[in-house]
Amino acid sequence: MKIADRVTNLPPYVFASLEKRLAAMRAKGVDVISLGIGSPDLAPPPFIIDVLHRAASRQDTHGYAGYFGTPALRQAIADYYQRRFGVTVAPDTEVLPLLGSKEGLANMSLAFIDPGDVALVPDPGYPTYRMGALMAGGDAYAVPLLEENDFRIDFSAIPADVVARATVLWLNYPNNPTGAGAPLAFLQEAVDYCREHDLVLCYDNPYCEVTFDGYVAPSVLEVPGAKDVAVEFNSLSKTYNMAGWRIGMAVGNARAIQALSIIKTNVDSGIFVPIQEAATAALNGDQRWLSERNLIYQRRRDIVMEWLPRIGLTARPPKGALYVWAKLPSGVDCEAWATEMFEKAGVWLTPGTAYGECGRGYLRISLCTPEERLAEAGERLSNV
Ligand SMILES: Cc1ncc(COP(=O)(O)O)c(C=O)c1O
Repeated sequence: MKIADRVTNLPPYVFASLEKRLAAMRAKGVDVISLGIGSPDLAPPPFIIDVLHRAASRQDTHGYAGYFGTPALRQAIADYYQRRFGVTVAPDTEVLPLLGSKEGLANMSLAFIDPGDVALVPDPGYPTYRMGALMAGGDAYAVPLLEENDFRIDFSAIPADVVARATVLWLNYPNNPTGAGAPLAFLQEAVDYCREHDLVLCYDNPYCEVTFDGYVAPSVLEVPGAKDVAVEFNSLSKTYNMAGWRIGMAVGNARAIQALSIIKTNVDSGIFVPIQEAATAALNGDQRWLSERNLIYQRRRDIVMEWLPRIGLTARPPKGALYVWAKLPSGVDCEAWATEMFEKAGVWLTPGTAYGECGRGYLRISLCTPEERLAEAGERLSNV
């Protein structure tokens, strides 16, 4: 059996190996508190689950669902973009439902990267941007997100010979892992840069509804003319606590959406209809519950911000997303620190290097754990 180089050259997906480490520790009887993965621990409200139940009980919802999503879901996505961002998109050509946004991110790389092409990926950043480029046979160039630049890319620092080979720029705000937001002026700069260099701008926006302290996150499509170069990826995972359901969307440039759909039609066969119907209800329904849900995350964030100094860490309070990006004192190795805390306190925090070299010296703390457990994690870490 010869396994393809594509697989053997790829590092294992960071959270897949973590799952095994956590299970081994739990098997030893340790009451592990994992502040690792950003999987919402709260459920969607009953009105969404009811639609799923009812649709799954019908006889006509169990076949292949079609490749492009139901017309009702595409319309609900277009209506959401209109209502929330003032952005008009054509439901038939500028909207494509996805089996979770991660699927779309990976397939986007297959649609836009040939061997020799480069994807410009933020560092630190969500690993799929880089892995997608490698799986497509291309390269990824890590563009630093530095704290002194408010975790935004400095476009002037990208070397000319790199951008000459690039086909894709990835951006993500509210940002995983740093929690930073980005103003529209920066998104305008990104659109201008992609236009000048003939890149497709892939804007990953799954945390646009998970924000704190009144912050309202924009869509890149609010930038005038953005649709000429941009596709925005979005997701119901974090917005509606539906991470396990696997449903998301790509919205924006029609040519890019079509290219992505050509890959997808050859890889998957659509999204289970009851999930599409529930997603449609989620998007069309009352959105007020999101503010209360965000207050829960915000209280959790404040608990973490309170105990960080006790263990020698510092952080900017995140504007959005589900994480606190905490800095270790200089010279302390984040991987060794995380391993030591895991072994001595049974608390897992993800070392920043899981998101790229620029994550060195940081830890990512997920807020998907109830307040009492977060407080207990702080206690245990302070007592090490
Ligand atoms: C930045 C970012 N993009 C995409 C995803 C994938 O989300 P989905 O559940 O829609 O695949 C995640 C999940 O954590 C994420 O953090």
